[in-house]
Amino acid sequence: MTKNLKELQPALAQLSLAQIVIDIRRVLIFAFQKQAAEYRSPMFNEFTAFKRHFVDFQKTELDDLERYCRFVLDHVPVIGFVPFSGSLSVISGHSTSLILHRDPPYQAQLILKQPNSIIPPHSHPNVDSIEVYVGGDMRAAIDGDFISPGASVCVNQSHPLKIAAHRGQAVRIHPNQVHGGVIGPSGGAFLSVQKWLHGISPTFVQCDWSGPTLHAEHLSIITSGVPLSQD
Ligand SMILES: [Fe+2]
Repeated sequence: MTKNLKELQPALAQLSLAQIVIDIRRVLIFAFQKQAAEYRSPMFNEFTAFKRHFVDFQKTELDDLERYCRFVLDHVPVIGFVPFSGSLSVISGHSTSLILHRDPPYQAQLILKQPNSIIPPHSHPNVDSIEVYVGGDMRAAIDGDFISPGASVCVNQSHPLKIAAHRGQAVRIHPNQVHGGVIGPSGGAFLSVQKWLHGISPTFVQCDWSGPTLHAEHLSIITSGVPLSQD
């Protein structure tokens, strides 16, 4: 019996080593599965998507569009810089736009979205922009990921005026970057701060459009990009 145990010892030692390897593999697989589950979670995607596109105005090095956006937010009054012509655009059933400030190739366009409307996935090949949330009930997506947790108004309940909690948050949308969104029953407003590229004079961002259009009226005002008619 003693002899048998001695003979078995190397095998037992090998087995315990094999068991340890199996246990380590189990731990690693569990950790990977947990990480994968977190990655698939909608909240995780929204958080990482927002962080990826968020514009941090506190950083030391701002590029020219970020500096212009900071100027608009700090110094452009609600009235006072609106161009005397070509400053208003209405797309029936979808949006109304007002140019608050224009200094080519830069401009700041306030966009008011109609309640219960959608912005189909699209891109702007000749416009680099920073989109600043003003208020309302909107859920935006960039590169296929929603960047806000829900299509409901986020209200800061501790503020005396119950302002929108995320007002002023800004995301960068680069030329040709696919984005879109859904607008809830309250409608929504955002400030699109733009730099127009390739020598194209600024008009309205909805005139430089690649992807599915809103409808025929929208298609008729597009002057650059590759629009796809939905009618
Ligand atoms: Fe857009």
